[in-house]
Amino acid sequence: MIIFAPDFYGYMELICTASKARLMFNPISRKGLAGFVPTMGALHEGHLELVRRAARENDTVIVSIFVNPNQFNDKSDLDRYPRNLEADLALLEPAGCHYVFAPSVEEIYPEPDTRIFDFGGLDHVMEGKFRPGHFNGVAQVVSRLFDIVQPDKAYFGLKDFQQLAIISHMVRMLHLDVEIVPCPIVREASGLAMSSRNELLSADERVNAAKIYETLTRAMKLAGQVAVPQLIEWISGEINKNPFLDVEYIDIVDDKTLKPVSGWNHSGGIVACAAVWCGKVRLIDNVIIK
Ligand code: PAF
Repeated sequence: MIIFAPDFYGYMELICTASKARLMFNPISRKGLAGFVPTMGALHEGHLELVRRAARENDTVIVSIFVNPNQFNDKSDLDRYPRNLEADLALLEPAGCHYVFAPSVEEIYPEPDTRIFDFGGLDHVMEGKFRPGHFNGVAQVVSRLFDIVQPDKAYFGLKDFQQLAIISHMVRMLHLDVEIVPCPIVREASGLAMSSRNELLSADERVNAAKIYETLTRAMKLAGQVAVPQLIEWISGEINKNPFLDVEYIDIVDDKTLKPVSGWNHSGGIVACAAVWCGKVRLIDNVIIK
């Protein structure tokens, strides 16, 4: 199916089968660099920034839209996940996307994927503690997508800080020939990190969810003045003061190993990560402390 659009890019093609995608994106026959943005759809400005950056840095831009069942440890979360292919397609073409790969579950998993990845402990902390199997499912789908699309570069947002660390680890571990490009978090005017899940928030919840980033930025200023455990306690307390919000975890970790840091004199980079429930919606965010 070809979607014609009257702008500079001329057209964008929708591909739904893995065999066609392999044919179209074959690195031997394609010209120039191919940039890839894997998504689960319900696109927002954060995704579009990844697509625009991919368009600046590559000759061909491919975006996948696939709600990956293997990374949902909670079936109701999978059922609730927002889906709107038509709206997504309308946003992608003007952002500079040339091909959309939107396969069915059967296309991606003709047989159940039983692979178990070893992430060297990166998955034992933060999200990994609360979402068992989540990162294994992410690695299953991303490795399959990389195998089908064979991109030169793949773009991921820093909002999913742990996901980025785990995918980079997987790429090194499997010797995949793809450059992982980390991209800054895109925020709503209120400071709330953009996420497909924000669509599930009520108007009131959305306003109050901004408190997460507001608190994290205040915490950045306190880092160095109070001890790490006290700062974690302070962040949790501040966020939980808001009746709409319920902290699941706050962790202050090394930006490479994701292990908790014990003091501000830590030799590596430090990042503060948060997972917070806002009603029935689980939100994550982070700030780089150093
Ligand atoms: O970040 C996401 O949207 C997903 O985890 C990804 C990388 C597209 C894999 O399904």
